[in-house]
Amino acid sequence: MDRRAEIIEDAAAFLSSWLDGRKPLVGIILGSGLGELANEIEDPIVVPYVMVPGFPAATAVGHKGNFICGFLGGKCVLAMQGRYHYYEGYGMDTVVLPVRVMIKLGIKYLLVSNAAGAMNKSFAIGDLMLIRDHINLLPNPLIGPNLDEFGPRFPDMTCAYDLELQARMLSIASRQGVKLQRGIYVSCTGPCYETPAEYAFYRAIGGDDVGMSVTPEVIVAHHAGIRVLGMSVITDVAHEAGDDYVTDENEIVRQADLASRKMTGLFRELVAGL
Ligand code: HPA
Repeated sequence: MDRRAEIIEDAAAFLSSWLDGRKPLVGIILGSGLGELANEIEDPIVVPYVMVPGFPAATAVGHKGNFICGFLGGKCVLAMQGRYHYYEGYGMDTVVLPVRVMIKLGIKYLLVSNAAGAMNKSFAIGDLMLIRDHINLLPNPLIGPNLDEFGPRFPDMTCAYDLELQARMLSIASRQGVKLQRGIYVSCTGPCYETPAEYAFYRAIGGDDVGMSVTPEVIVAHHAGIRVLGMSVITDVAHEAGDDYVTDENEIVRQADLASRKMTGLFRELVAGL
């Protein structure tokens, strides 16, 4: 058996033994902007990543490292409180391990959030952006022998972000009076924020915002036929050299927290309708 498949299987069996027979329908990655959602999950079972075989401890600022299984809007959800980033030095197999474990446990939907910097000049700090497509500039997590039990060797990526979920989210946002931008997310390795020339480059290739996560998880989920919805919170905007501005990680976490009430309300209603 492929070593990666063994690790996924062991981790899924371990986690399943903690879930008391629950069968999560929705996987949620509580990235920046969705931290608050963790408090709304009812009857939670919390399993720290460090307890799960094959899982290292998460280290990024503002990220805890727990699975939380419980109920949101009456639906059984399995949330990742914190994710592994490539810039932390983890290999891609580790970055996508929690998502593959959730897939193994039977989720049908994956909802993802993240913090991002905007290249699109009509976006402002605090805006939410529904991701309609991405440009993956991280290493592809499917490189290596294909895990056939998850999906095909050469998966189609025409519609990685589910159109029906996007339509539902747009109508939820309009009903709740929340302004929602739409756009294309570019992922890069980090951990540096971008130079002005890099922001200009990402804008020129069609990107609206940029961050250091999301695409690996979305690629493995879509590979396995999981329906995905992604949303960014815009925590900073592209600047020019000479501007009196420094991109600061604490300010990014603060901006993400400020946006979290809006984002949490949107996700709660989306999950309730699944
Ligand atoms: N660049 C990359 N990642 C980010 C940014 C950014 O400007 N803001 C939040 N995450």
